[in-house]
Amino acid sequence: MERDTTNYYELFGGEAFFADLVSQFYAHVAVNPILRPMYPDSDMKGAARRLQMFLEQYWGGPTTYQEERGHPRLRMRHAGFHINQEARDAWVDCMKRAVDGTTLEQEAKDKLWRYLEGAANHLVNQMD
Ligand code: HEM
Repeated sequence: MERDTTNYYELFGGEAFFADLVSQFYAHVAVNPILRPMYPDSDMKGAARRLQMFLEQYWGGPTTYQEERGHPRLRMRHAGFHINQEARDAWVDCMKRAVDGTTLEQEAKDKLWRYLEGAANHLVNQMD
């Protein structure tokens, strides 16, 4: 099989796309009773910036995340948060609505969504 050399960062719409996605996501998080208390009160802007940098890097954009934060190690970085099925579902719901709120074409949405949902499943760290 040929290697997929598509630059998805560009295909999705570059920085403007990821800024829009992440700002929609955090607007949902800000009013979500399960998620809101998990995020830093005084640094929602910082949290949004970290997620945006990470996603841009993951999809082939600038590597600012790595430069500022080092290796992502998402399992480790989420270990301090109580992520049970309910928290996972809340995150997935906020992100699903954010993805659906963008103007990406369906095929691109599906590609992005498969990744995000899989990553969320992988970060569940509590059985209750
Ligand atoms: C499964 C549900 C999830 C919950 C409840 C959750 C919750 C959180 C919380 C509370 C933070 C701290 C906010 C901050 O100050 O940066 C955080 C950070 C972060 N999350 Fe999640 N998260 C989830 C899934 C994901 C997924 C699926 C991704 C990636 C696709 C992700 C990527 C990140 C990144 C990149 C950071 C910042 C890490 C750092 O550099 O410190 N999270 N998450």
